[in-house]
Amino acid sequence: MRVGVLTGGGDCPGLNAVIRGIVRKGVQEYGYDFVGFRDGWRGPLEGDTVHLDIPAVRGILPRGGTILGSSRTNPLQQENGIRRIKDNLAKEEIDALVAIGGEDTLGVAARLADEYGIQVVGVPKTIDNDLSATDYTFGFDTAVNIATEAIDRLHTTAESHMRVLVVEVMGRHAGWIALHSGLAGGANVILIPERRFDVDQVCAWVTSRFKASYAPIVVVAEGAQPKDGDMVLKDDSLDSFGHVRLSGVGEWLAKQIERRTGKEARTTVLGHVQRGGTPSAFDRWLATRFGLHAIECVRDGEFGKMVALRGTDIVRVPIAEATSRLKTVDASLYEEVSVFFG
Ligand code: F6P
Repeated sequence: MRVGVLTGGGDCPGLNAVIRGIVRKGVQEYGYDFVGFRDGWRGPLEGDTVHLDIPAVRGILPRGGTILGSSRTNPLQQENGIRRIKDNLAKEEIDALVAIGGEDTLGVAARLADEYGIQVVGVPKTIDNDLSATDYTFGFDTAVNIATEAIDRLHTTAESHMRVLVVEVMGRHAGWIALHSGLAGGANVILIPERRFDVDQVCAWVTSRFKASYAPIVVVAEGAQPKDGDMVLKDDSLDSFGHVRLSGVGEWLAKQIERRTGKEARTTVLGHVQRGGTPSAFDRWLATRFGLHAIECVRDGEFGKMVALRGTDIVRVPIAEATSRLKTVDASLYEEVSVFFG
């Protein structure tokens, strides 16, 4: 059996742990051969491969990023994309493909499996934790730890100057990172994309925090938006590579707070720091288990399936189950956390 592996979409701490789990178990227990495809779907599309065997995965467990490279290339939007992928898989004599990715990468994987008969197994990945069908995705825990540490540090500088510190974290469509790091870091306001926020209410929380002689920390997810029409985000504008760009809600909010409360405010945008570097122990554990179960799926010929975490078990679900809708923060969970606002 010859198995192809690719990592697509935004990179994420733990990708290398998945690759290592797949290759170690596949070679040691089943005697499989592996081929790495470079840069997500670009690899099979262009026949760009990288050698993948046990020496190639040695020492990569704690390394962030992905040794295979990643991209957001979508073969379904390329001329003859499916044909080119099929030809290159045949050329490399690939029997099965493991696609490790988020919504977009897995969306392609589901269609290749369901509509074009390509033997694909999916592994869910995103720091945003917004994929359905799995309790957690790896990368999320690392991102939350990084954001929490940043919030802890911002508390002390905010208090020294009695300023408002606005922290913008990742999360275009779902506020999981904001919610978890905001709660863990003791933020005074948490704003998420799932619920439009009222700037006056945010200012009231900020003011009440100052009254208690504390400097407020406001955690805002990059996709959060205000309720009223006084701000129009250049929502989902595209950069020159065709990638989605959001427009800096953190900076905007800090200005509004200064204007409306008369208090000095600063913004920290954590950005890609949340995605880089070494994975947490939890993410290494989850990613490794996903890798081990993905190669078992290949052995069992269960294609069109994705591995997922349910409680402490790893289960198999149709890939489409994860990509058909996003897992967002529900209202009751947000309400629960809001007791700490202000
Ligand atoms: O989906 C993961 C993610 O990190 C989002 O939270 C963020 O909005 C996006 O990727 C950033 O993408 P890029 O690396 O293309 O700027």
